[in-house]
Amino acid sequence: MRWIALFALFSPSVLAALPDGVVAVSHPAAAAAGARMLAAGGNAVDAAAAVQFALNVVEPQSSGIGGGGFMLIHLAKTGETFIVDSRERAPAAASADMFAPDGLPMPFPLASTSGLAVGVPGTLRGVDTALTRWGTKTLADTLAPAIELAEHGVRVNRFLAADIANDGGRTRIHPETAAIFRPGGVPLAEGDWLVQPALARTLKRIAARGPDAFYRGALARSIVRAQQRTRSELGATGTGRMTLADLAQYEVAIRDPLVGQYRGWTLVGMPPPSSGGLTVLQMLGLLERFPLGDAAQGYGFGSPKTLHAMIEAMRLAFADRALWIGDDDAAPLPRQGLLHPDYLATRAALIQPDRRMDPPQAGDPLPWDASVTVRPQPSRTPQESPHTTHFSIVDRWGNVVSYTSTIEYTWGSGITVPGYGFLLNNELTDFNFLPAADASASNPGANDVAPHKRPRSSMAPTLLFKNGKPVAAYGSPGGATIINSVLNVTLNLIDHGMSLQQAIDAPRLSVTHAAGPVQCEGGATFMQPRFSVAAQDALRDWGHAGLGDAGTDGCQATIGSVQAIVIDLASGTHHGAADPRREGTVIQVRSARLDENQAPLQPVKADEIPH
Ligand code: GLY
Repeated sequence: MRWIALFALFSPSVLAALPDGVVAVSHPAAAAAGARMLAAGGNAVDAAAAVQFALNVVEPQSSGIGGGGFMLIHLAKTGETFIVDSRERAPAAASADMFAPDGLPMPFPLASTSGLAVGVPGTLRGVDTALTRWGTKTLADTLAPAIELAEHGVRVNRFLAADIANDGGRTRIHPETAAIFRPGGVPLAEGDWLVQPALARTLKRIAARGPDAFYRGALARSIVRAQQRTRSELGATGTGRMTLADLAQYEVAIRDPLVGQYRGWTLVGMPPPSSGGLTVLQMLGLLERFPLGDAAQGYGFGSPKTLHAMIEAMRLAFADRALWIGDDDAAPLPRQGLLHPDYLATRAALIQPDRRMDPPQAGDPLPWDASVTVRPQPSRTPQESPHTTHFSIVDRWGNVVSYTSTIEYTWGSGITVPGYGFLLNNELTDFNFLPAADASASNPGANDVAPHKRPRSSMAPTLLFKNGKPVAAYGSPGGATIINSVLNVTLNLIDHGMSLQQAIDAPRLSVTHAAGPVQCEGGATFMQPRFSVAAQDALRDWGHAGLGDAGTDGCQATIGSVQAIVIDLASGTHHGAADPRREGTVIQVRSARLDENQAPLQPVKADEIPH
């Protein structure tokens, strides 16, 4: 984790009245790309574009132009908050049974590394849309840092090196990917230099010709050909179905966010096709009934009562998520019912004080949601990746961006578009592999594959408001654990009164299935305060699995990577907090605070920067 300050050289008389801009990103070079936009007078959207393109170069295993994401934007001037949804879409020829052509689900490792898994990428269209509408820089301006990084190279950090070493074969299956990350058959190691000339050429082409250079023409033809690759074990059924028309017709959606309340704070988050916002708000609605911050009543951070309530809320919300949540552009889902306080009261009543509940079924929110007329039946949850990336930005005007993006699994499909140097996603594996829709059981099949549909996501870029003003932006990678990382940080801020950095460093707890085991953190020294062995023993006594043997420390997981900014309402200043679980980096673009008689600007030292 790093903090860096950068001075913007503007007229002191202008900037003396303005707060600083801050970027918080999972990689220092990508953070620097965003800071460069802010320092050049750009706004948060300009900086977000530059960060996203740079991440394609320095964290290629997690996100890029071959993938998709959700950019949550808050505009200071109008007070509006909205989402630029660049989630991948299924091609027109997609079908509900395409991951189970013989009635049996394809093995995930095979399906996810075949062209069949590749969704129509949205990231470039999304970033370009945001820039065109709300940015001040050109696409070429924001691509410039990424082009430099791809052309001149970047040091391989320990996270990228570990992902190459532990790739499950994904950087070895397709020769173009192996040539970049395993040159001469040798995996790149920490400290090696990664140079990506093909990617640099691709980004230059896009800079010169705009996003149509990607969505039409020679590059589009290469994408279509690349996703026609299949794994021999899958035969023709593993071949991708994307066409040139699918690429040419890709559209982003501008969405209103979900808005919910928790103990007097307002959370603004992702609506469908992500489950992120609904599931976080459901869990908060369940947990508001418990005094989580009150040590006098046996709660407080890390107490067995607090952890137990969190675990049970996760079970209940994830049971609902598995059944009810998908792309509601394709079919309506009971948003209102899922968040209705009376529905949540029936669900919270299932939480017993000192005993794990039996794995809950999804509830029935329909009586609280008149618009939908189906009844629940269990459906399967697809396998989700620990990767993806999140970053947060605030600019000197108070505009905020909270952006989570992905190519789905680490290394996506493992398919690099030949000659163009970027990876294609495997996002379609976020759909149900076995179709769940069943009219006789009134199962909506909310996340079944369908033409043009977006697969359900867990991504949860979030903005926290107090008294109508944004005070913090955060989010995380981590597949379904994203939702729980956002929940943990929210509780740490609101119930446990932590600073943003403490809230990020603190160990996290996660359950991602109704019947799932408990995962918890504690293996790194910065994860304080620890979940005690005594608290873990209490959870074991109450029936929770996943913690190992009694008397031992079973909290050894690593969950998520939260990059966040905070706005101090009292002083108007902006700060960032970065996650040591990756190479999280905060850069503060500190504008001049000088009058005409003061000395020339000097960078502040890292330890002088508040966090
Ligand atoms: N593929 C990860 C997500 O969308 O949540």
